[in-house]
Amino acid sequence: MRSAGWGLMAVLSVGLVSACRSTVLAPTGDRVVEAVGCTVVLPGPDHIDTTGTVQWEYKENKNDSALSVVLYYVELKNLNIFPSYKDRVVFNTSSWSLELKLQLGDRGLYRLRRQEEEMSGKWIQLDVLEPLSKPEVWWNSSLVGSTIEMVCNVTVGMVDSYQWRKNGQPIPRNERYHLSQNNRVLHILKATKSDSGRYSCKITNEVSQNETSRELIINGKWGISLL
Ligand SMILES: *[C@@H]1O[C@H](CO)[C@@H](O)[C@H](O)[C@H]1NC(C)=O
Ligand SMILES: *[C@@H]1O[C@H](CO)[C@@H](O)[C@H](O)[C@H]1NC(C)=O
Ligand SMILES: *[C@@H]1O[C@H](CO)[C@@H](O)[C@H](O)[C@H]1NC(C)=O
Ligand SMILES: *[C@@H]1O[C@H](CO)[C@@H](O)[C@H](O)[C@H]1NC(C)=O
Ligand SMILES: *[C@@H]1O[C@H](CO)[C@@H](O)[C@H](O)[C@H]1NC(C)=O
Repeated sequence: MRSAGWGLMAVLSVGLVSACRSTVLAPTGDRVVEAVGCTVVLPGPDHIDTTGTVQWEYKENKNDSALSVVLYYVELKNLNIFPSYKDRVVFNTSSWSLELKLQLGDRGLYRLRRQEEEMSGKWIQLDVLEPLSKPEVWWNSSLVGSTIEMVCNVTVGMVDSYQWRKNGQPIPRNERYHLSQNNRVLHILKATKSDSGRYSCKITNEVSQNETSRELIINGKWGISLL
């Protein structure tokens, strides 16, 4: 009955930027991190029942009350998918696993709940992150002798770490170079011609990385690059 839905899921998954798909291996107290648009498979239990109901539940935070993602009447083989999950979940009626194509708002806790509450699964924590967009590298001066503030700005996604390079090499250890704000900002004090070069900022989070580089040319006082 739901095979049309499964067909649709398969088509959607193929169109992803990186055909990402992960299976939660050991759900006991696990935290799973995946990118928006990717697919995760929350595993079914060791054995399934032949009567009663089973559902996958979701809650955003520990203290929230749980909402249903899918509800399955085992004997009737009747599957209800709740409206906000239509077209992006696949419940496997023989293993009771749940496949979910992720949106940002899916971050939270999931568990398999059986009619016999004590037979229900543990809560699995799922984090959903946006892949990082290309950062913008910006500076406020290119004048000899000035203090240059160089900023690596990100428009989409939450960054875990920033890494600067100059001409492909790590930023020189030098008292004129100062990194701050988790390395997002680089200050160059008393700029000299030798500070000219290609500066790149690489950003990373748990699901992606991205990078931008830009050429800085330090100019003399009159705006002319003297030999
Ligand atoms: C959840 O509830 C417990 C006890 O009722 C409380 O100590 C805790 O701060 C609450 N957590 C959140 C995130 O609200
Ligand atoms: C459901 O799970 C079973 C057992 O893991 C697997 O063999 C089967 O291919 C799955 N069905 C679908 C439609 O994914
Ligand atoms: C970097 O971000 C751009 C969008 O700003 C994206 O098109 C590109 O695929 C990203 N690069 C990587 C390596 O993810
Ligand atoms: C660039 O920004 C830094 C830090 O805000 C500041 O100290 C410096 O004077 C600025 N440089 C110019 C040329 O405006
Ligand atoms: C960096 O981005 C923030 C918002 O994302 C913006 O307010 C700020 O002006 C940007 N800074 C630079 C130097 O582009």
